[in-house]
Amino acid sequence: MNTAIYKIDATNMDMDVIRHAGQILAQGGLVAFPTETVYGLGADAMDARASAKIYAAKGRPSDNPLIVHIARLESLTEIAADIPDAAIKLARAFWPGPLTMILNKSSRVPLGTTGGLNTVAVRMPSHPIARAIIEASQTYIAAPSANTSGRPSPTLAEHVIEDMTGRIDMIIDGGKVGIGLESTIVDLTGPIPMILRPGYITKEMLEQVLDCVTVDQAILAENSDKNFHPKAPGMKYKHYAPKGDLTIVEGAPEDVARCINALTDQAQDKGLQTAVIATDETKASYTCSRVFSIGTRVHEESIAQNLFEILRKMDTLSVDVIYSESFEGGGLGQAIMNRLLKAAGHHVIQANQSRSE
Ligand code: TXA
Ligand code: MG
Repeated sequence: MNTAIYKIDATNMDMDVIRHAGQILAQGGLVAFPTETVYGLGADAMDARASAKIYAAKGRPSDNPLIVHIARLESLTEIAADIPDAAIKLARAFWPGPLTMILNKSSRVPLGTTGGLNTVAVRMPSHPIARAIIEASQTYIAAPSANTSGRPSPTLAEHVIEDMTGRIDMIIDGGKVGIGLESTIVDLTGPIPMILRPGYITKEMLEQVLDCVTVDQAILAENSDKNFHPKAPGMKYKHYAPKGDLTIVEGAPEDVARCINALTDQAQDKGLQTAVIATDETKASYTCSRVFSIGTRVHEESIAQNLFEILRKMDTLSVDVIYSESFEGGGLGQAIMNRLLKAAGHHVIQANQSRSE
């Protein structure tokens, strides 16, 4: 398949390209486009055959449901049924934006889009290109992250081009995305709203709108735990892992630097390619020749924005062994650590312990 690639300026959109993308989607084709979180791989959510093409292009397990993207609040009633007040409150507070809600599905949404579930994930993105494409398609758009299943989600069009060229009809390049981590998912089908995937909209932000919010305990648990039964099917799959062996090192900054320097020295002596994921504040403390700053600890947003790009860079550079600093777990840090822990297969070591080894 020939994949057309178009660059679009979000502040001055080429509407011919947007209309063309809308036509491809309306005819059951696949178009990747930027959203404010990560790039999405879109298809007509109301057409099970179009959704099936997404699973094929990504190599995604068929039981992993897709998020349906809408451009207007009125569309919610066409996608979802039994919509609770909490959903309306959340929509008013956070839509358009990086929040996905799980609701009972309406009969119109095919089971092929929801992975066979009677619930549906709905999100109204805020990115102007995403919104324009949904409107132009005159339907609703199922869009998972536009990566090959298991790889880090794309934050640049280059990442989508790497994974999807030849597999989809069109890629819209709208530059680097703003947030860099996928949307927060909140399940509203139970008695108490539950966060199934942490994201930019934090628990604290949700609590300003809802009386009570719980968190799926599987979010920070390890896949091998016997209690690991995440409610979002996608959270059970291996995800984000670079090809190299990634380890997170916890502890005081000076202990972490000492520990990582010793470990990268050892690995280099064995002839392995090594890299360190650090921050602006700490990058000068490492002796390894490849030290990447993921951002500044003063603005966690910068860390979220660069995480997936850095994980992909490790593959491009064919790094064998990667050590990363750890991040605080509150607020946006919960989403950052959720992705980083998954990428590392939950391989975490304590800096002070390894010093005494
Ligand atoms: O930011 C985002 O949400 C991006 C952009 C493109 O919008 N999309 C995205 O989609 O991250 P995806 O498919 O990569 O992740 C969707 C997650 C999966 O973990 C899936 O299992 C879960 O949402 N999900 C979808 N429908 C669900 C449902 N009915 N019940 C529980 N979890 C659901
Ligand atoms: Mg994904």
